[in-house]
Amino acid sequence: MVIKLTNLWKTYPIGRLEVHALKGVDLEIAEGGFVSVAGPSGSGKTTMMNIIGLIDNASRGSIFIDGRNVTGQKRRELARMRREFIGFVFQSFNLLPVLSVFENVELPLIIGKKGGSKAERRDRVEYLLEEVGLADRRKHTPMELSGGQQQRVAIARALVTRPRIVIADEPTANLDSDNGEKVLSLMKKINDEEKTTFIFSTHDPAIWQTADHIVFLHDGLIQSEQKRP
Ligand SMILES: Nc1ncnc2c1ncn2[C@@H]1O[C@H](COP(=O)(O)OP(=O)(O)OP(=O)(O)O)[C@@H](O)[C@H]1O
Ligand SMILES: [Mg+2]
Repeated sequence: MVIKLTNLWKTYPIGRLEVHALKGVDLEIAEGGFVSVAGPSGSGKTTMMNIIGLIDNASRGSIFIDGRNVTGQKRRELARMRREFIGFVFQSFNLLPVLSVFENVELPLIIGKKGGSKAERRDRVEYLLEEVGLADRRKHTPMELSGGQQQRVAIARALVTRPRIVIADEPTANLDSDNGEKVLSLMKKINDEEKTTFIFSTHDPAIWQTADHIVFLHDGLIQSEQKRP
């Protein structure tokens, strides 16, 4: 899916003041892109990714997905699109501690009612646990895993509904560099194999260098972009 932002603004009211988190962002993300959003703390990375992920509304400007303007859509319709097209990976993994690894990955299929029969769900979950190298940990709970393993479970969970876009806000920030690299190469592999678009934010030059499209945000504006052919 092609994502296009035009003159996107996000303003937060704080008492009588206003904070402009985004100040007119124009951006186009190609289908199947491996896109990194870089920039200092407070530059607007999370704000922009939440708007792309349809978790949050822009204050002004438009977002187009495959040419369709989704800016003014109703909450219900946004939720439907989010369930259908988008997967999320968070900095702090956000796995449910009382569920097993298998159950955590299966959960979006049960919630979204898109998972088919129990056997179909099992096949999909087992395939992804194999992909992320954790098939032998399916019965463990998240607390019994390392941070890097937990993040790989979170990636499997984000992918289970076959989203076209995965939004990952600092997915490697809580990992050491070894595990960060593992998570990143896993994302790249899935990007190559399934043409899933990945949009991930990071502070780390070693991580953003791996992207084929780097967006440098500064103070709510795109300062520069780098694209690899
Ligand atoms: N809910 C909110 N209410 C008020 N201001 C907010 C809110 N969320 C973000 N901001 C402000 O918007 C600006 C951009 O924040 P954002 O979280 O997008 O930055 P970021 O680039 O993700 O930073 P970090 O690298 O620290 O995660 C900051 O000035 C922040 O204080
Ligand atoms: Mg952030």
